[in-house]
Amino acid sequence: MTGLLAILQQRLGAAFSAVAAEPVDPAVRRSQRADFQADAALALGRRLGRVPREVAQAVLAQDPLEDLCSATEVAGPGFVNLTLRDDVLADLVEAMRADERLGVPSVEPETVVIDYSSPNAAKEMHVGHLRSTIIGDAAARLLEWLGHRVVRQNHLGDWGTPFGMLVEQLLDEESADHSIRDLNAFYQEARRKFDADDGFRERARRRVVALQAGDETTLRLWRTVVGLSVRYFEEVYERLGVTLTAADLAGESRYQPVLGAVADELDRLGLLRRSDGADCVFPAGFTNRDGEPLPLIVRKADGGYGYDTTDLAAIRHRILDLRATRLLYVVGTPQREHFQMVFQAAREAGWLTDEVRAEHVGFGSVLGEDGRMLRTRAGENVRLTELLDEAVARAGEQVRQRHTEGTDGVDLDAVARAVGIGAVKYADLATDRMKDYTFDYDRMLAFDGNTAPYLQYAHARGRAIARRTEDAPGAVRVTEPAERELAITLLGLADVLTDLAETLEPHRLCAYLYGVATAFTAFYERCPVLRAEPATRASRLALCELTTRVLALGLDLLGIAAPDRM
Ligand code: ARG
Repeated sequence: MTGLLAILQQRLGAAFSAVAAEPVDPAVRRSQRADFQADAALALGRRLGRVPREVAQAVLAQDPLEDLCSATEVAGPGFVNLTLRDDVLADLVEAMRADERLGVPSVEPETVVIDYSSPNAAKEMHVGHLRSTIIGDAAARLLEWLGHRVVRQNHLGDWGTPFGMLVEQLLDEESADHSIRDLNAFYQEARRKFDADDGFRERARRRVVALQAGDETTLRLWRTVVGLSVRYFEEVYERLGVTLTAADLAGESRYQPVLGAVADELDRLGLLRRSDGADCVFPAGFTNRDGEPLPLIVRKADGGYGYDTTDLAAIRHRILDLRATRLLYVVGTPQREHFQMVFQAAREAGWLTDEVRAEHVGFGSVLGEDGRMLRTRAGENVRLTELLDEAVARAGEQVRQRHTEGTDGVDLDAVARAVGIGAVKYADLATDRMKDYTFDYDRMLAFDGNTAPYLQYAHARGRAIARRTEDAPGAVRVTEPAERELAITLLGLADVLTDLAETLEPHRLCAYLYGVATAFTAFYERCPVLRAEPATRASRLALCELTTRVLALGLDLLGIAAPDRM
C-alpha cells in the first residue's frame, strides 16, 4: 500500500502520459473545491498547442477513475477535480488500520551514515549544535523505522591544537574539581591564559607536540578532558531524548592513526599539490572570489593534519569500510562548501562513486528575539541546558494552570518535561531547516497552532476517548465532511514519510501532523463519538484510534514524547 496521493498520482499520471504520448507528472494536490486537484493540463496544453480544458477532458476520457471517485470534473482553465468515493476512503482507512506499519511501504534497505551533533570537546554545546542534534536524530529515527541500516557518527571535535592549552589548564587546576558545569569556564580560562601568558602559551605548544607524538602522560590528561566533555554531552542527549550513545562516538581523534596513509594514498593518486609549504587537494570546480582554486589542506607545512584531512579519512572510512551507500552530514550552512569540496575530492580519489549519494544536510541559525544570533546578554553562546531548563519550567507553569482542579492522575512533572523539551525540538523541526528561526518560548509552548503541545494534546485526547468506553473500535464508515477530511488527511502518511526519506525536511512531517491534529479537532467537535449509535460509535472510535497511532508514530519519529495523559 502507498499513500493516497501516490495512488492518485500514479493513476492520473498514466492517463496524462497516454494523452500526451510522453511521461507527465499530473501534479495532484489537495484542494478546497474537491478532495484533490490536478493542474498538469495547463502547462501540457500550452506545450502541445492544445486547449488545456480539452486536454483535461481527454485525460478523464482515457481513465474516468470510477473505481476511486464519486465525481470528477474539469474546472476553470483546465483543472481536473476529483472527489473520492466514501467506500474507497473507508476501505483505505481499514487497510491502514490493519497494517502494523500504517500502510507505509517497505524500502530497499541501504546503509546510511549520518554525521550529526558533532560538538567540540571541552566546550559546552550551544544552540548551534542543537539543530544538528535534533534534525540528525529525526533523520536517523525515520530512516531506521523505514528499514534502513543507520550508522550514527558523532564526529566529535576531540583533537588538535586547543588540546595543548586544555591539558595545561587541567594541570593548573590542581584541586581538580572539574565539574561538568564549568566546562565553558574551563575553556575560557585556558583561552585567556593562552592569549595573555607567554609561558603558558609555550607550554601549550609543547603539549600539542607531545600529544601528537603519543606521549603517555599527555594522552592520559587528554582523555580526562575529553571524558568530562563526553559525559556532559551524554547528559544532554539523555535529556533531549536523542538516540546517540557512546557507541556512536567517532571523533576526530579516531582518524589520527590513518591520516598519514590517507595522505599517501592521495599523493599516489596524483591529487596532492604543494601550496605555501602545505600539501593540498584542489577539488575541481571550487574557486575563491579572485578565481583562484580553493584547497583542502591535507598536510600542513609543519607536517600536521587538520580538519580537512580528518574529513577525507572519515568519508573514505564511511564508504569503503562501513559500506554506506548514502552519507548525510547534518552540519550548519557555513560548512556547506567544505563538504562539497570533500565530496568532490572523494570522487576524484575514486572513493565516492555513482552508487553512493553524499549529501550535506544544512540548516540555518537560531535567532534571539532581537533578530540576531541567540546570545546571552554578555554576548556568549547561550547554554543548551539553560534553554531546556527554562522551557521545562515554563511548560510546568502552563500544565499546572490547566490542572487547578486536580491532577486527574496526571504526572505533572513528567508532562512538563515532555512538553518543554518537545516544544524546543518541535519549534526547530517545524521550520524549513534551511531558514533561520527565532527562539520564542511563548510561541513554541502555545497549546494551539503548529506546536508540540497542540499535537501532544490531540494525541492525549484520542487516548482519553478510548479510555472512556469499553466498546471496541469497529468497521470504518466515512460519510460526514469532518470524517472525510480526517480520513483523507490520515491517508497521506505514507506519502509524507516517503517524501521525507528523500528531502530530509522534517517540517513536512510537522505540517502533516498538524493537519491531522487540526482535522481531528474538527472531527471531535462535529462528530460525537461516545454518544453516537453503536455502528457509528465503533467507526468513530476506529478513526480516533488510528489518529492516535499516527500522532504517536509521527511524534516518535521526530523524537518527541507523546504522554497518554496530559
Ligand atoms: N565539530 C564541528 C563543529 O562544531 C562539526 C563537525 C561536523 N562533521 C564533520 N564531519 N566535519 O563545527
